[in-house]
Amino acid sequence: MANSMMDQDILKVLYTPEQIRARVQELGDALYEAFQGRNPLFLGVLKGSFIFMADIIRACQVKSDLEFIAVSSYQNGTKSSGVVQILHDLQQDITGREIVVIEDILDSGNTLFFLKNYFMTKGAKSVTIVTLLDKPSRRAKAITADYAGFVVPDEFVVGYGLDYAQQYRNLPYIGVLKPEVYTKRAD
Ligand code: IMP
Ligand code: MG
Repeated sequence: MANSMMDQDILKVLYTPEQIRARVQELGDALYEAFQGRNPLFLGVLKGSFIFMADIIRACQVKSDLEFIAVSSYQNGTKSSGVVQILHDLQQDITGREIVVIEDILDSGNTLFFLKNYFMTKGAKSVTIVTLLDKPSRRAKAITADYAGFVVPDEFVVGYGLDYAQQYRNLPYIGVLKPEVYTKRAD
């Protein structure tokens, strides 16, 4: 694969496409064991989870359907604002459903803390949290993932769906962004 201009903004690669694929399959196998016969609703948190969502549903061949919700807690910076806004709401009734939330990264926990309560308020029977990445060092809310792909250090990561200011989502690996890329901006 040709090197991209984006690669120059990456300090180091944390997980290669091969490592991601192997770990996603392990998560898919675990979810299969947990959810076969239960018709779960896979619920992706946009935009960051869209690539993980596409891969995990194919790695878990249970009868299921899927839904998305779009939220925002960042204003193009690298720190959560703490206020979660719904940008695109659920398009179906989730009463009585077993929800499997698919998220890219659990950081401060603000997003998933809010969403878990939101889905319970909407009548979900259960809410299971699946996150590709977990950054526990930054947790501000009492929330844990039921399934986590990789535990990452307190560095800003991009790729495989994760962005900085909406860019780098299309990198096939997960890497640490060079701090000078975001510190040169005035946010
Ligand atoms: P939380 O609400 O702080 O847990 O953050 C959750 C959301 O923040 C994730 O869904 C990501 O969209 C974003 N986020 C947190 N940490 C990172 C990171 O290191 N890189 C890219 N996005 C991140
Ligand atoms: Mg996200």
